[in-house]
Amino acid sequence: MERLTGAGVGPLAVGAVGLLILLRLIQRARGKQILQDKVVVITGASSGLGKECARVFHAAGARLILCGRDQKRLQEVVQELRAVTDGQRKTYTPCTVTFDLSDTDTVARAAVEILKCHGHVDVLINNAGISYRGNILDTHVSVQRDVMETNYFGPVALTQAILPSMVERGSGHIVAISSVQGKIAIPYRSAYAASKHATQAYFDCLRAEVERFGLQVSIISPGYIRTNLSVNAVTGDGSKYGVMDKTTASGREPTEVAHAVLKAVRHRQKDVLLAGPLPTLAVYLRTLWPAAYFRVMASRAKKEQRIKEQ
Ligand SMILES: NC(=O)c1ccc[n+]([C@@H]2O[C@H](COP(=O)([O-])OP(=O)(O)OC[C@H]3O[C@@H](n4cnc5c(N)ncnc54)[C@H](OP(=O)(O)O)[C@@H]3O)[C@@H](O)[C@H]2O)c1
Repeated sequence: MERLTGAGVGPLAVGAVGLLILLRLIQRARGKQILQDKVVVITGASSGLGKECARVFHAAGARLILCGRDQKRLQEVVQELRAVTDGQRKTYTPCTVTFDLSDTDTVARAAVEILKCHGHVDVLINNAGISYRGNILDTHVSVQRDVMETNYFGPVALTQAILPSMVERGSGHIVAISSVQGKIAIPYRSAYAASKHATQAYFDCLRAEVERFGLQVSIISPGYIRTNLSVNAVTGDGSKYGVMDKTTASGREPTEVAHAVLKAVRHRQKDVLLAGPLPTLAVYLRTLWPAAYFRVMASRAKKEQRIKEQ
C-alpha cells in the first residue's frame, strides 16, 4: 500500500474539515425544518414563558394549540401571532383550549378537545405553573395540595390523556418545564420545590418507559426568568403573593428560555439545566457534599427570616 506523504495529508485534512462543515450545515438546515407543520400544545400560553414559546414555535412553522384558563388572554396571543408574517415560512393561526389544570376531570375533557383540533399531537409542552412563597409552619396543607394539583397532577393528567395517541403513532415529544428547584430545594418554597421535584421524577420515569415507542421526553430546568411568576405566586394561607421579587425581575429573558425549549425539542435533549454558576454549583453540592448544602440552606433560611422580621 502506498504511504501517505506529508504533501498528501494537507488536502485530505482540508477535505475532511469541509465535509464536516457541510454535514453540520445540512444538519442545521434540517433541524430548522423539524417543526414545520407540527402540532404543538403549549399550556400556560397566556403569559410569561408560555407566551414566548408560542411566539418561537409559531415562527418555526408549528400548528399551535394554546392552553390556559383565560380565553380572552389566549385570544390576544392568537391575534398577536396572526399579525406576525414571515415570508420564508408557512405559519398557522393557533387554536385555543381553555381549562384549569388543577381540575383533573376538566383536564381529561380538554385533552379530548386538544386531540380534536388536528387529530394528533406532535409536541406537548407542559409549561403552566404556579409558584409559592411561605413558611411551612404557617402553610395550610390545602395550599401544598393546590400547588401540587396545578404543577404536578395537572401536567400528569394531561400527559397521560395524550400519551396513548402518541404511542399509537410511534412518535411524539413531551416537554416538562420544571425549575432548578426541581433539582434542589430552597427554604420558603416547599410546595413549589416539592411539585418540581415530583415533575422531575415523573418525567424521568416516563422518558425511560416510552423510549421503546420512539417517544421523546425533555425536562427543562431554568433558574429565574423575568415573568410574573412571583407576582402570581400563592402564600401559606392561599392568598396571592403579588410581589415582583428582585431575583425574578433580574432573571433570564423569557425569549432566551423559549429558544432553549425549541432547541431541546429540535435536538431531542433529555435534561436541560438553564442556570448560572451558583445554582449549578448548588445542584452538584446537593449530590456530592450534602452536609455542606444543608448548612448553606439553613443559614439562608435564617437570613431570610431575619430580613422578614426587620
Ligand atoms: N419565572 C421563573 O422564574 C421560572 C423559573 C423556573 C421555572 N419556571 C416555570 O416556568 C413555567 C411558566 O411560568 P412563568 O414564569 O411564565 O409564569 P407566569 O407568567 O405566571 O405564567 C404561568 C402560566 O400558567 C398558567 N396557569 C397557572 N395556573 C394554571 C391552572 N391552574 N390551569 C391552567 N393554567 C394555569 C397561567 O395561565 P392563566 O392564568 O391565564 O390560566 C399562565 O399562562 C412554570 O412552570 C414555572 O414553574 C419559571
